Amino acid sequence: MTGAAAVAPAVVSCERKASGPDLSIAKDLAFRTDGTFTLLQFTDTHYITGDPRSARALDCVKEALEAVKPDLVIHTGDILFGKPDLDSAREILQPLSDSGIPWAVALGNHDSQFGSTREAVFKLIRAMPGNVNLPPKDGVYGCSNDVITLSGAKGVERVFYLFDSMDAVVLKGEEDIHCYDYIRHNQIAWYRSLSEKFKADNNGTPVPSLAFFHIPLCELQEALSAGVQPLCGNNGEPPCPSRLNSGLFAQFREMGDVQAIVTGHDHDCDYVLQYGGIYFIYGRFSGGDTIYNHLGPQGYIPSDGPTAPGTVSGCRVFKFREGTEGFETCVRLQGGQIQQLLGLKNHQIKRL
Ligand SMILES: [Fe+2]
Repeated sequence: MTGAAAVAPAVVSCERKASGPDLSIAKDLAFRTDGTFTLLQFTDTHYITGDPRSARALDCVKEALEAVKPDLVIHTGDILFGKPDLDSAREILQPLSDSGIPWAVALGNHDSQFGSTREAVFKLIRAMPGNVNLPPKDGVYGCSNDVITLSGAKGVERVFYLFDSMDAVVLKGEEDIHCYDYIRHNQIAWYRSLSEKFKADNNGTPVPSLAFFHIPLCELQEALSAGVQPLCGNNGEPPCPSRLNSGLFAQFREMGDVQAIVTGHDHDCDYVLQYGGIYFIYGRFSGGDTIYNHLGPQGYIPSDGPTAPGTVSGCRVFKFREGTEGFETCVRLQGGQIQQLLGLKNHQIKRL
């Protein structure tokens, strides 16, 4: 089976009155005394409270937190996948709260499809201990648009941008467009304002950044169509971005700070690919069998069904070192196996 879970007809409205960009920083974090910083990414837990098919997701989250002991956790969405939706979100995120580690979410397309509004789900998440997301910003589309900084002795060394890639969108006209939503211009304006501020504070040099959101960009599809191969990892299905390209990738290149775009959404992919000077990185599916998934310890497992026996959930880990360019990343499977260990540096620009 291919393709991320079907586009839902629901259109979510989180548009607010514009009143200038809100440049509040959700959290400023520091390197450890040994100069390292570890970020753990979960994605697509698709949790349904009370559903035994979700047990694997909860075990995956608990085990990874205990084993990796990260300094920050980011969940890139599709946290839940059924009713009761607020209980589902609360239960799968509770281990993050219990860990005492700061954590944030970038909501996925399914997170507001089971009764509660996107804002209600986000409000519940924000109220949980340890969560660092800020309230939705006036004039910025969506809910989970946030920025987290990582500072060393000389100031901000890394910026983590979180965008809300929302759900589905319908544009009415002579030819209706119905597709996954796209990053809106006011989200891009918010990002640019922050990026410029960090650059100015860094003596005119862009601060290396990573962008986290749920739905990948059109440029990933373009890269694969052009024959670009992943550097490593599983490529079990085509990416399912929005049909509409609002230019976020171009803005990342113009600003020169975002080194990697980190997403979820396509459960049978966990690869790393470089295109146009930016790394496209999939998280590792962290859910159970409430939704399609076919990644085993040795890769994609063909199956006629929505799930394949022998699949293994996991997470992705990023490590940053103070005063050092780039970062390391790997996939950690439930049970402890490490795959795709990569050291990625900045300034390896491949021309389009
Ligand atoms: Fe998903």
